[in-house]
Amino acid sequence: MTEKRNNDAFSSNFGMIAAAIGSAIGLGNLWRFPYLVGQNGGAAFIIVYLIITLLICTPILLAEMVIGRRGGGSPRDAYIKVTGCKGWGAAGILGMLTCFMIMSFYVVVGGWTIRYLVMSIAPGFHRGAVLDSGAIFGGFVSSSFSPIIYSLIFILLTIGIINLGVQKGIEKTSKLMMPLLFVLIVLIGIRSVTLPGAQAGLHYLFKPDFSQFTFDSLLAALGQSFFSLSLGACMMVTYGSYTPRTSNLAKNAAIITVSDTFFALLAGCAIMPAVFAFGINPSEGAGLVFVTLPQIFTQMPLGGLCAILFFVTLFLAAISSSVSLFEVMTATIMDVGKTRRRTASSICAAILLFTGSICSLSQGALRSITIGGKNIFDQFDYVSSNILMTLGGLLAVLCVGWVIKKKIFIDEITDGGNIPVSKPLASALFFVIKYLAPIVIITTAISSIF
Ligand code: PHE
Repeated sequence: MTEKRNNDAFSSNFGMIAAAIGSAIGLGNLWRFPYLVGQNGGAAFIIVYLIITLLICTPILLAEMVIGRRGGGSPRDAYIKVTGCKGWGAAGILGMLTCFMIMSFYVVVGGWTIRYLVMSIAPGFHRGAVLDSGAIFGGFVSSSFSPIIYSLIFILLTIGIINLGVQKGIEKTSKLMMPLLFVLIVLIGIRSVTLPGAQAGLHYLFKPDFSQFTFDSLLAALGQSFFSLSLGACMMVTYGSYTPRTSNLAKNAAIITVSDTFFALLAGCAIMPAVFAFGINPSEGAGLVFVTLPQIFTQMPLGGLCAILFFVTLFLAAISSSVSLFEVMTATIMDVGKTRRRTASSICAAILLFTGSICSLSQGALRSITIGGKNIFDQFDYVSSNILMTLGGLLAVLCVGWVIKKKIFIDEITDGGNIPVSKPLASALFFVIKYLAPIVIITTAISSIF
């Protein structure tokens, strides 16, 4: 515990923001967001996504931070301290299990990212991708051995950062990686929107077509907002506990949301115009990034360079999110098992290697094993994003809105009156946390069952 207390806090507010943005910006922005936009009516999806993110999810983000900073320690500790009730510790444990589940498929996709980065640097890749990028991708992910090795490399890189601790590992790498990510995605975006025929992609992104927007699209928008902002997995509870007392939590929540959403839109602008410029169907699905884009890169001027830049971006985004997921698990195991950081992170890595391998094999050798019609990989993605994260978010808002109450909430976001936050804003945020967010989460959960 002493080791945790001394080393585990962000050195500055900027460090906290960089790390939280690092967690938020990830495969969700580059891999999931563009294909969900493609499948759900383009701008119509974006508009609904923006409203949900701003109105519902930013206050949830704030609620998680309040719990973390008020309670301190691991998520389990934090929940117990702010509520004064041991039972609430289960919410922290649930967060850790959610992170395990997300990480199990995240490390697989992280491994694919490394593989594609290596391939994009190697000279033969572009010719090969023209021939049949779908077969290359399918052949790789369904093989038994090599995707697991790449996942292992991804896990080892994550653990390397985690073992350096919060300040020297998470904070330092995030401060370096986040600005770089924005520069890279802007560069790719400039190349993409200047391709002949790119306007059609921009139209698609920014001109709403509500005829393709269904109730399932609404659920997808809510799920994506949760996933992209890393909500409901105790990530913000954990990072909140490392945040300096003087930090303005409401402002931080706004900066994190705006940056994450802006990045998702930039990713859309980098991907969709190129997809349209080459006459490809935008609703390609999960293969968009690994199948469609390599095809496009091979055909466009400066495509080789863009491919490398794109896969570097994808890798940096994936590893910074993976670090945050890993940190929630490590912090909880350090707390529950009273172990040191290295021991806790090694335990997490060993379990992940096992669950990650199962997810990876479910793309090939274990394909025949399905649960509820989905293979294990897809089921892990579905259960974590659509069930566990929403449940975790619900527990966070119920805890702040109904257990710790308004006075403590205001005290925490104003640091006992030292930080000016306007009264109407504070009340509006609390109203959303107490009433609106739980109602939206519960009604969408119930209606998705029927
Ligand atoms: N927000 C990350 C992404 O967009 C995923 C994530 C979820 C990270 C939950 C941490 C916790 O890829």
